[in-house]
Amino acid sequence: MKIEGKEYRTIWFDEQNQAVKIIDQTKLPHEFIIKDLKTVKDAINAIKVMEVRGAPLIGGTAAYGIVLAIMEKNDSNFIKKSSEELIQSRPTAINLKWAVDRMMKKLTGVNNNELSKVALDEAKAICEEDVKFCENIGLNGLKIIEEIYNKKKDKVNILTHCNAGWLATINWGTATSPIYHAHKKGIPVHVWVDETRPRNQGANLTSYELNEEKIPNTIIADNTGGILMQRGEIDMCIVGTDRTLSTGDVCNKIGTYLKALAAHDNNVPFYVALPSSTIDWNLKNFKDIPIEERNSEELSHVEGLDKNNKVTKILIYPKKSKAMNLAFDVTPAKYVTGLITEKGVCEASTEGLKRLFK
Ligand code: MRU
Repeated sequence: MKIEGKEYRTIWFDEQNQAVKIIDQTKLPHEFIIKDLKTVKDAINAIKVMEVRGAPLIGGTAAYGIVLAIMEKNDSNFIKKSSEELIQSRPTAINLKWAVDRMMKKLTGVNNNELSKVALDEAKAICEEDVKFCENIGLNGLKIIEEIYNKKKDKVNILTHCNAGWLATINWGTATSPIYHAHKKGIPVHVWVDETRPRNQGANLTSYELNEEKIPNTIIADNTGGILMQRGEIDMCIVGTDRTLSTGDVCNKIGTYLKALAAHDNNVPFYVALPSSTIDWNLKNFKDIPIEERNSEELSHVEGLDKNNKVTKILIYPKKSKAMNLAFDVTPAKYVTGLITEKGVCEASTEGLKRLFK
C-alpha cells in the first residue's frame, strides 16, 4: 500500500545489510521511521513493544526472527531457545506460534550450512502467502460490500475496530482489504474508525493508512458505534482477529465484543476477516484463550504532538488511581454474521470453517 504515493510492505529483508526492515508503528502517525532488526532479540523486542503488531505481521516478524537467530549463531540450542522466546513475546495472536512452528518444521533435518538460506526462503514464503491471502480476503469481502451498494445505491458506511489494516499484515490488511478493493472498483465507501483506546490503533494507524489511500474516514470514540447503528449510519462492521477458534468464536482487540453486541441489537451485519493462519484448530473453549494484559501506563498516559510539534507523553489519570489493561476480548460466534477468509465467506461455526478448510 502507499505512503506519500510510494508503495511499501510492512516488513522486508534487506539483502545488502543482512537486516530485516520494519516500519516502526510506535512512531506513527507523527513520524514514518524504517527500522533495522539485526538480532532475534530485536525481533522479540519489536513484537513486545508493538513496533510491529497485528496478528499476521507478528507472525511474519517471528518468522524473520528465526532467520536472524540463525544468522547470529547457527546452533540448534540457541535456535530452539529463540523460537520459544519468540512464541512467548505476545500471547494472544495465534499467528505467532503458527509461524514459528512452520519455520521450525521446515528446518528439521536441514544441513547446518543450508539453514539460513532455507529459513530466509521460508520467512519470505510466509509473507508472500499472507499477501496473497489478504488479497483474496479483499476479493471475497468485496462481494458483500457490492451487494450492500447495489441495494442502497449510495455510499456504504463501514465500521472497523483497531487496525486490521495494511499495517497489521504484510500488505492489504484483513478487515481493510475489502474496503481497499471496493474503493479501487469505484464503490463509494466511508469508514467509521474506532479510536481503539488505549493504544489508539484505529486513530493512529487505520485512519492514517486510509488517508494515504484517499479513502474517506472519520475517527470516533470507542463508545460511539452504538448510537451510529441506532441512527442507521453503519451498513456493516468488519473487524480483524488475533485468534478464531474452530467453533467460530472470535478473539480480537478489546471492545470488539461490545461492538458486536450493538450490531446484533441493531441488525447490522458483523463480519470478521481473517487468513487461515489465524484459526486455532486446537482450543475448543474460548475461556482458554490467553488474554494479554499490558502495562496500565498505556491507559494512564497519552502521547501526542505538543505545540512545538514535538512528540510528548503525559499522565492523564489521578496519580493515585489504579488501572487495568486487558488487550483482547472474545466475541461469541452467535454474534458474527460471517467469516471472510482467503477461501471464501462462511458462517462462524465448525461446520462453516470445515466446509472451507477440509
Ligand atoms: O494489539 P494489536 O494492535 O496487535 O491488536 C491487533 C488486532 O486486534 C487486530 O484486529 C488483529 O491482530 C487482526 S490484524 C489483521
